[in-house]
Amino acid sequence: MPDLDSPAALELDSLGLLDVIGASVEAFDSARAAAEGTEIRWPPEAIENVAICGMGGSAAAGDLVIGAYRERIRRPVEVIRDYYVPGWVGENTLGILSSYSGTTEETLTSGMQLLDYNAPAICITSGGKLRDYYQERDVPIVPVPPGLQPRAALLHMLVPLVIILQRMEIIPDVTADLDEARETIAAAVAAYGPEVPRAENPAKQLAATLEGAMPVIWGAELTAPVAMRWKCQFNENSKVPSSWAAVPELCHNEIVGMEGMGPIGPLTRILMLREERQHRQNHRRFEYTKELIERDVKGVMNIVADGDGALARMLDLVMLGDYASIYLGLLQGKDPGPVDVIGRLKDRLASSGFGRTAGQQG
Ligand code: F6R
Repeated sequence: MPDLDSPAALELDSLGLLDVIGASVEAFDSARAAAEGTEIRWPPEAIENVAICGMGGSAAAGDLVIGAYRERIRRPVEVIRDYYVPGWVGENTLGILSSYSGTTEETLTSGMQLLDYNAPAICITSGGKLRDYYQERDVPIVPVPPGLQPRAALLHMLVPLVIILQRMEIIPDVTADLDEARETIAAAVAAYGPEVPRAENPAKQLAATLEGAMPVIWGAELTAPVAMRWKCQFNENSKVPSSWAAVPELCHNEIVGMEGMGPIGPLTRILMLREERQHRQNHRRFEYTKELIERDVKGVMNIVADGDGALARMLDLVMLGDYASIYLGLLQGKDPGPVDVIGRLKDRLASSGFGRTAGQQG
């Protein structure tokens, strides 16, 4: 088994994901400045609802922001992961086109529909067709630095969303939340980084627990979108199958499947993402479910978020999952950076002649 405390084990990280996550505070500051410096021309009262169009890592940012502010959001905000936007989209919908690369066809296609509906739009992107097309049409663009893996650019995509929603008065003042979140991120880098030895590093310890296992991540309320983020990071960084679900819904279906896991059970580790402000019935659901299914799986772990504000508590868990998933990849001898199969699928689709993307109505 590679020793995560030895520099040799980290050499497998060909795209430098650990360096990128190590620079999270800088990313946070640059994203905050980029969003604050972007001109938005609509008065807040013109916006009735918000459609955040994006896929994969660029959509995760939307889920997380909605999750962090779910009790304080004043108007409906939805993440659209699809080619088509829903019927409620109209000229009073703010369309936020979130694509790190600016080349994702689902986002480009839903973006064209927003234009068809005369919906005001704003892009968060590092380039691609998205930036070229909307720049020409004078649509505001929050710039994101190029050259990263989209999932590693989470803070560049997430912080602007928080600021845009605040500027549209959809969520209340976020200054204190952002300041606390920045501290949380700095603390996570200091606690989980590669130079912290395994004996004192919860992210390396978590990765070691998951070696050879399939992580199943369960969240509730604020931690539900974090559970999805962890699942995607285990898929993409660790190259392992993983799934996620949310309490209380999973208590009505998923737990029955757990009883019937058969040979997969001994390979499955359930990670329960907890935080103190979850509904007390949800706390009980986690506890009782653990008792009921523990014998059917390899293990069940509680992981508790730290922090005061919702955004900070959420990012505390996001950072732990990001680090642990990279370490798990390295432990299993996998390069955490490349996601070649996603690229191959996108190339195949691009060569299929689908034309209705930005700049190519058809
Ligand atoms: C790759 C990754 C993917 C992408 C997705 C959409 O690191 O996380 O899930 O985020 O394929 O691409 P973008 O974000 O460029 O629109």
